[in-house]
Order: sequence, then structure tokens, then C-alpha cells
Amino acid sequence: MNINENFLKLKAGYLFPEIGRRVSGWTEANPDKTSKLIRCGIGDVTEPLPQAVRDAMHAAVDEQGERDTFRGYGPEQGYDFLRDAIVENQFAGLNISADEVFISDGSKCDTGNILDIFGHGNKIAITDPVYPVYVDTNVMAGNTGDADENGAYEGLIYLPCTAENGFVPAIPSEKADLIYLCYPNNPTGTTATREQLEAWVAYAKANDAIILYDAAYEAFVQDSTIPRSIFEIEGAHDCAIEFRSFSKNGGFTGVRCAYTVIPKTLTATTSTGEPVSLHSLWNRRHATKFNGASYPVQRGAAAVFSPEGKAQVSALIEHYMGNAALLRQACQDAGLTVFGGENAPYVWVQCPDGVDSWGMFDKMLEEAQVVITPGAGFGAAGEGYFRISSFNTRENVQEVCRRIAAL
Ligand code: MLT
Repeated sequence: MNINENFLKLKAGYLFPEIGRRVSGWTEANPDKTSKLIRCGIGDVTEPLPQAVRDAMHAAVDEQGERDTFRGYGPEQGYDFLRDAIVENQFAGLNISADEVFISDGSKCDTGNILDIFGHGNKIAITDPVYPVYVDTNVMAGNTGDADENGAYEGLIYLPCTAENGFVPAIPSEKADLIYLCYPNNPTGTTATREQLEAWVAYAKANDAIILYDAAYEAFVQDSTIPRSIFEIEGAHDCAIEFRSFSKNGGFTGVRCAYTVIPKTLTATTSTGEPVSLHSLWNRRHATKFNGASYPVQRGAAAVFSPEGKAQVSALIEHYMGNAALLRQACQDAGLTVFGGENAPYVWVQCPDGVDSWGMFDKMLEEAQVVITPGAGFGAAGEGYFRISSFNTRENVQEVCRRIAAL
């Protein structure tokens, strides 16, 4: 009986459970300080679900309690009421149809599962720093060799995102087949301009590559010149897949609902060069391995697009972006160099001289009782930075700001 030995190549634990373990160790050793702990590590929402979402979910649960309105298995790809609402509200004028939208229970799963439809031997390009799921799922799928002493996996193309390039990677000189881009970016909280995305689409088309575009944070974009979808870029329908989520806008981290958009025009080739529709492969995969997100959850997700839902989601975004502004200011006042946090809920901060990112994690935990995420946890180029999540209550954020000032 063999195992998938690719799992043995993975470095340490997945970042957020690893942080959780370290924080638990600290709380056990410091029971007197535990009540002061404020978590700004994982980007998990804190504010309650919008009323419109709750009302829709309650009504859907009641429907499930009546013989006449009870529903069993739904369509694996999602109910039309939600797919239609997504297209109407998120992709109007972008030439996306409802049957190109696949509803799921999360973008983490989707960005990992998408590898099912791609073959082996593809050259994978990922930004550095990066949401660790993209790397780890490629390791699990056998798309990499071993990691070196810096944690970089053989076979991956790392695209450094630095302060110098505004955290948007330069177009590589070599050919990649799959490129992961996430904008607004996790972890740096920065955005890509239309011109930068146009350059990536042009590169993907010239190289027969596919862009896996993670737009989980699009709702936080405040600047109207910043694209919210890769499909705003001409030509993207032939070279991109987009991932979106209800987690961060609708507060669904505990409810679970997301979607993946795959245009029907998108193809990749067999080993003999025959083009095959990625939409039909994903449809086949989804129908085989997934039975659809739950009905009450999909009703709740659709309510995000009702007039009340839109107003309530806007208030949530305003709340978290208000937190981000406070955190940015507090770090700047403390003399730190700050990025992001203007069109995304993450603030990316340069560590003070002489402190590395896990050192900063320890310092913030021990001296301020604040949990942050060390930049190195997102990749080698994240060293020297730390991420503060603005997903928190206003009181906690104000307290974090006071503690940063007192450090
Ligand atoms: C993060 O903190 O990076 C996110 O919460 C992770 C996720 O969305 O899975």
C-alpha cells in the first residue's frame, strides 16, 4: 500500500495552523496574558452575517422543512438563481454567461482542485510572496521537486514581488504554462493596474499559458481604475480562469460559498496537440467530485446581491477598510514602511531594522499580545515583512494601534 509521497516534500505545517500552534504554545505558557490577545493573523471575518443573508437562509431552511418546497440534490454547478445573480451583478458587460460560473464551497478548495484538470509537466509560475495554497497543492500534485533550504521548490517559477516592482511581478523571460495571480493581493494588499494585467494576458496568449486569477478580495477595491476581474482585460476569455468568494465580502468564512468562472472559449491541449475545452473538463470534474453547495447557503449568497444585501455588504467593506486605514496610520506613525491596505484588507509592513519576520511575529506576540502573519510564511520574498489583517472589530483595531504606538 503506497502513499502519495509528494506530501512528504511539504515544508512544516500549513501556515495558519502553524501560527495557531505557536499561539497556543504561548497562551499555555502565559495564562495571565491570554485575555489580552488580539488576533490579526489569518484573514478571518469578525462581523456578523448581513441581515439579508440571514433572512434568505432562514427562509431556505423553512422551505427544506415543507414537503412541497423541499429540495434534495441540487445542480452540481450551482442553482440558476445564484449563477444568474452573479453574472448580472459581478460580470455585467464582460461577456460571461451563467453556465460559465461554477458554484462551490470555497476558493481555497477551487484553487487547489483546479489542478485536477491540468496534466503533468506544466511549468507553474507563482508570485513570491504568495497564498500558500497555490504552492502546496502543486507539491501535492507532483508538479514540483524537493524544496531547497530556503523552502523554494525545484521546478516552480518564482516571480518575486517586491517594493521595487510594487508587488506586481515582472513578466518572465521563460515560458510558463500556468500562472497564479491574485489581485487585490494576498498577502501584500496591493493591486495590479489595467496595463499590468494587459501585459500578463498578452504574455499568456503568446505562450499558450493559462492565468489562474484569484479575485477573492475584489470587493475591497476602492479605486475605480483598478480592474476587479481579469475578464475586464481583452483576450482574457482565451487564457484565464477566475476564482471569487463570498468569504470576505459577505462574511461567509464559516458559511462557505465561492465560485469559479471558466469561459467556454478557454482551451488547453492534449499531449498530441488537440485543443480541449477546460470548461467541459471542470464541469466533468465538478459533477463527479462535488454535489453542489448547500441550498440555504446558495440562497444566502444570492441575497448578497439584493438591494438590502448590497447596502449591508458595503457597510462591512467600509468597516474593514476603515480598520485598514487605522492600521496603516498606526504603523506609519511608528516609523514603519507600509504597503497595501488601501484597496485590500491586508496591510503589509516592513519589519524594523534587524528583525526578521518570525522575529516580528514573536515580538508582537510577546510584547503587544497581537498575532500577525510573518511575511516569510508566504515565501522567501516575504522575509522582512509582516501582514496585519484588518478583519477585526473596531475596538480591537484601535487597541492594536495603541499597542503598536507603545512598542
Ligand atoms: C488568509 O489569511 O490569507 C486567508 O484567510 C486565507 C484564506 O482565505 O484561506
